[in-house]
Amino acid sequence: MAAYKKSIYKRILLKLSGEALLGKQPLGIDPDMVSYVAEEINSVSDLKVQICLVIGGGNIFRGLDAGSKGIERTSADYMGMLATVINSLALQSALELRGIPTRVQSSIAMHEIAEPFIQRKAMRHLDKGRIVIFAGGTGNPYFSTDTAAALRAMEIKANVIMKATKVDGVYDCDPMKNKNAVMFKKISYIDVLTKNLKVMDATAISLCRDNSLPIIVFNMQKRGNIRRVICGEKIGTYVGE
Ligand code: GTP
Repeated sequence: MAAYKKSIYKRILLKLSGEALLGKQPLGIDPDMVSYVAEEINSVSDLKVQICLVIGGGNIFRGLDAGSKGIERTSADYMGMLATVINSLALQSALELRGIPTRVQSSIAMHEIAEPFIQRKAMRHLDKGRIVIFAGGTGNPYFSTDTAAALRAMEIKANVIMKATKVDGVYDCDPMKNKNAVMFKKISYIDVLTKNLKVMDATAISLCRDNSLPIIVFNMQKRGNIRRVICGEKIGTYVGE
């Protein structure tokens, strides 16, 4: 890891799925996984790259599933957005335990718990070396946390979205089900959309495409990968023009 001493980015947005915090449990937050994520983020502190985070809520509540099982879709989506706030607070605690100043900004007003999302304030936090966690999705039903990540990345002018997954990148078919699946080193937004590759949902991909924001999909479960991607090692899949 000694070779990786310089970030090639000024500002990144790291997108984690809620499932990243599950560990071996069927539901909820595994404190060991929260620690692991916080350690990985802490391991890049010396690079002085500005970091914001968006985390999903699927480890606590899956809005889409519930929507099809009797909870009205809009309510289910709001429940999912609240789950992202819980995950964000867990991550904030774990980061601050390691001495990393962190601010949580929520797109749903809950002043006792988190700051409201204010773009200019978020930029100021980042300039002061704080990690900003954007909680509450976009604040609207019918949007995923991937779309929230794309939207916030545009707003705070991130150079890249780093999408953390549990596989090495984007494959032509599900690598969990097909051992012959082939990973793409690079793929265009349009191919992701037309091949329906499920990197992120179509709204998020379209937003990135319209604003030329690259996405790097990489395996977060391999220690040191965050640092590798930030320092420009070509691991994972690059999604761009
Ligand atoms: P600077 O203005 O750069 O000093 O940023 P700061 O975040 O340190 O200052 P501020 O006075 O805005 O916030 C101090 C603390 O209060 C921080 O931990 C913020 O996260 C927290 N805080 C600020 N606004 C809110 C809010 O609306 N709700 C909650 N719950 N906390 C807030």
